[in-house]
Amino acid sequence: MKYDFDKVINRIGSNTAKWDEVEAKFGTKDVLPMWVADMDLRVAQPIIDALKERAEHGIFGYTKMSDSYKEAVCNWMEKRHDWKIKKDWLIHSPGVVPALSIIIREFTQPGDKIIIQSPVYYPFFDVVKENGRELICNSLKQVDGKYVMDYEELESQIDEKVKLMILCSPHNPVGRVWKREELVKLGEICLKHNIKVISDEIHADLVYRGHKHIPFASISEEFAQNTITCFAPSKTFNIAGLQSALLSIPNKDDHKKFSAALGTLDIRRDNCFGAVATETAYTHGEEWLEQVLEYLEANLDFLIEYVEEKIPKIKVNKIEGTYLVWLDCRKLGMSKEELFQFMIKKAKVALDDGSWFGPEGEGFTRINIACPRVTLEEGLKRIENAVNSL
Ligand SMILES: Cc1ncc(COP(=O)(O)O)c(C=O)c1O
Repeated sequence: MKYDFDKVINRIGSNTAKWDEVEAKFGTKDVLPMWVADMDLRVAQPIIDALKERAEHGIFGYTKMSDSYKEAVCNWMEKRHDWKIKKDWLIHSPGVVPALSIIIREFTQPGDKIIIQSPVYYPFFDVVKENGRELICNSLKQVDGKYVMDYEELESQIDEKVKLMILCSPHNPVGRVWKREELVKLGEICLKHNIKVISDEIHADLVYRGHKHIPFASISEEFAQNTITCFAPSKTFNIAGLQSALLSIPNKDDHKKFSAALGTLDIRRDNCFGAVATETAYTHGEEWLEQVLEYLEANLDFLIEYVEEKIPKIKVNKIEGTYLVWLDCRKLGMSKEELFQFMIKKAKVALDDGSWFGPEGEGFTRINIACPRVTLEEGLKRIENAVNSL
């Protein structure tokens, strides 16, 4: 079937964070929400149908992770990412971020060090700091306008207290889809220093033409044994509100440790709707995903052309994956607070301020392009008018 992603769907009043929390987050309702990472695009029809059918059953008791669910996940990973995983490596989690927090508590001690590659998805900072661990920022560097990893700095930051590395692959917000050789180099450093890798691959399916996501754990058996991979159907299929995420942990001891922690918290069970949506998405969602990817890529091209032509003071980082575009606003010459307020008060758009992603993000902002083209155009027009009035 052909989906119409141009259709604008009113989300106001459906208790969505993106639209209904703007006032709490940005101090005003008078902004166009283009922040938080979910899509303003209607979900794949097979998912909607399956949820309706499940709702019609009328009883929503405790739910188990069925064999067919696990099979659907494994088949998807093999088909889309050439990654062969086993059903018994899989564990359900209510989210990737809660899983990160649990891993940090279970696999490190207070005072241990954890590496992240900033600017990066801001909950990474919180899960480390709020669990009393020391944060090490191995900042990405820009080479010829492209973000790359700084391995030299990484080696110089490592000591015996470093126990974990949280990899963001593909990377939010810089939109890199890491190449195999980049991941190999990183993984070898981690193996050499006994640093376990948590690979957050929640954006794995949202990759543009000419790029390929390489699951970190697929690189070698040694990598697999040293990696906990977190992923979810939530970004891919726009079902974040169903709170279903997954982990793949091939290392038996690590699997046992993580499962036990989930048991202690008593959050081992999936939400019955989340389970249905996940299995359906991975079984029947590909047709929708292909169309969404095409639409997002056209949105990306639209944004690049618009900004280059009409707002040349802002530089677009050409993303390889995700639907989150990192805009370099440093030429506007504003402090981080000024830029944040400028986008809210002058442009009247709600964006994720670059500084939320770490000090490396100051002077940047992140815009979510997973919306109908008219919404994107409206947001860009607002930014253009505000910049032109400076
Ligand atoms: C890199 C990354 N990890 C995790 C999440 C959120 O995961 P969850 O909602 O499953 O906790 C996001 C959402 O934007 C993200 O970008």
